[in-house]
Amino acid sequence: MSPTKHAAGPATVLCVALNPAIDLTIEVSDLRIGEVNRAQRAQQDAGGKGINVASCLADYAVPVAVTGQLGQENPALFEALFEAKGIDNRCLYIDGYTRVNTKVVDPDKGETTDINLPGPSQTDAEIAAQIAALKDVMTALAASLRWVVLSGSLPPGWPADTYATLIRHARSLGCKALLDTSGAALSEALKAGPEIVKPNRDELAEHLGRRFGSLAEVVEAARALIAAHPGMQAVAVSMGSEGAVFVSLEQAIVAEPLPVEPISSVGAGDAMVAGVVAAQIDGLPLDGCARLATAFAAGKLTRLGPHLPVQADVRALSEQVKLKNNCLIS
Ligand SMILES: Nc1ncnc2c1ncn2[C@@H]1O[C@H](COP(=O)(O)OP(=O)(O)OP(=O)(O)O)[C@@H](O)[C@H]1O
Ligand SMILES: [Mg+2]
Repeated sequence: MSPTKHAAGPATVLCVALNPAIDLTIEVSDLRIGEVNRAQRAQQDAGGKGINVASCLADYAVPVAVTGQLGQENPALFEALFEAKGIDNRCLYIDGYTRVNTKVVDPDKGETTDINLPGPSQTDAEIAAQIAALKDVMTALAASLRWVVLSGSLPPGWPADTYATLIRHARSLGCKALLDTSGAALSEALKAGPEIVKPNRDELAEHLGRRFGSLAEVVEAARALIAAHPGMQAVAVSMGSEGAVFVSLEQAIVAEPLPVEPISSVGAGDAMVAGVVAAQIDGLPLDGCARLATAFAAGKLTRLGPHLPVQADVRALSEQVKLKNNCLIS
């Protein structure tokens, strides 16, 4: 874990992590399915998209709180991360264990096999009570809170409009919302008009039920999304090693990725989300946001977990980001 200059003051950002997971990585050379394998090493990390976003924001010294659900039988890894980074822990503790997602890495074959568990099973009444409790967490933080970040999948059985409910509650408290999810959770949440959305290209394509033949089509789709949803200000579409495009009604800015040697691409999108929010807290315009978000992603790519270099290094990276402005607006 990187040394952290703790953020001062009460949380300005709340990250919602409804379905976090412990990431268990096991290294097995020459993995054979159906046989007894000997592992070389194993590592466990607190994971989940909302947790990753909070972790990156804390590294950039943004005062951040996290809420969501943790199993009360195995919260230690999460609590250690929150403690080390000065993250305000507002999680709801539920019976049982937080799910474990297993990655079996085979360095010989260069393959990774993922085995992901679904998350807790809860009754409709339990889920309704949890959503009410999440609103209460937001309300309790409202005096300092400016942004709520909703990322990742919903736990099994949760209504697809859960994020929409939370976005509307955030708005009633004077907070803005950034959304990063997919499928039905994305489609339903968009109806509440989050201020910023960060799909990757595939997630946006799936939502629209089409494929993109060119970058211009991605930009047009992002602008149509903004036009169709009152309240929405910007859409950032990430495109992996091809960078990202940051779109508002007036602008489209393509940010090339920084030329880093990725150690792990897991969570690059989450780091980008954190960078977008940090840019809003810093009051940056869209080009500054594109730079900072790309720097966050690049900084994370050079580390194994959801960690960033120190703030000054991230700022230095952001100045190296190459942008193309408005090249695609006709
Ligand atoms: N291989 C890479 N080389 C350089 N930069 C990369 C690479 N992969 C990702 N990035 C940077 O990270 C940003 C976000 O990555 P990506 O589009 O893969 O997010 P994502 O699909 O939401 O990922 P996830 O949800 O798994 O965290 C990209 O816009 C780019 O700036
Ligand atoms: Mg993503």
